[in-house]
Amino acid sequence: MAHFILSFGDINQYLLREEPTTDPYQQRVNLHTYEDDHHWPWYLEDFTKLGFDRLCTPTAWMRFLWSDETRHNRILTYRLAALISRANPVERIAIIEAIEETGNVLFSTMLDLAKAIERRRGIELRYCGAFHFDRESGHSAGSDRSEIANIPLNEIAQAHCLYVVDEVFALFETWTHELLRYAQAHPVSKSYGLAS
Ligand SMILES: [Fe+2]
Ligand SMILES: [Fe+2]
Repeated sequence: MAHFILSFGDINQYLLREEPTTDPYQQRVNLHTYEDDHHWPWYLEDFTKLGFDRLCTPTAWMRFLWSDETRHNRILTYRLAALISRANPVERIAIIEAIEETGNVLFSTMLDLAKAIERRRGIELRYCGAFHFDRESGHSAGSDRSEIANIPLNEIAQAHCLYVVDEVFALFETWTHELLRYAQAHPVSKSYGLAS
């Protein structure tokens, strides 16, 4: 998932954020991007702590990141970029909410696994573990669910928001299937001391 995790910083910084703005909804979007644009360095930190820096050469990594086997990681970024570039500020809030809900599933699922690795290896995993999970509220930073639910939408605007949410979930679903396919094709659990 490296390609997407690192691209997610750029999605926040260069695609979701638009400055300057007088639109109150875009201001909310911008506020959120300042929370979510700097989590990827924790991923690199975990990567190093898990010993992956010694795994292969830089060109082998690049070949891997741009390989057919990991294409949905890249496609996720590109399709999200296309969706965001066509979205108005309210639709962007809907996109963020869908991404955050997806993140909530990912981080809560990953948490127990991270804790198990942390115990066995005596390390702290800041991206995969509690450090990151505690900073993810599961919705856009700076506004609560009722505030978002109270955004007035006419029928057409609501239909557009539902469309972008469905699109985001569909993209992430394809992504998770690719991750699972990869994990099943390349089992490493034994080398991480996780096999029973
Ligand atoms: Fe987030
Ligand atoms: Fe995050």
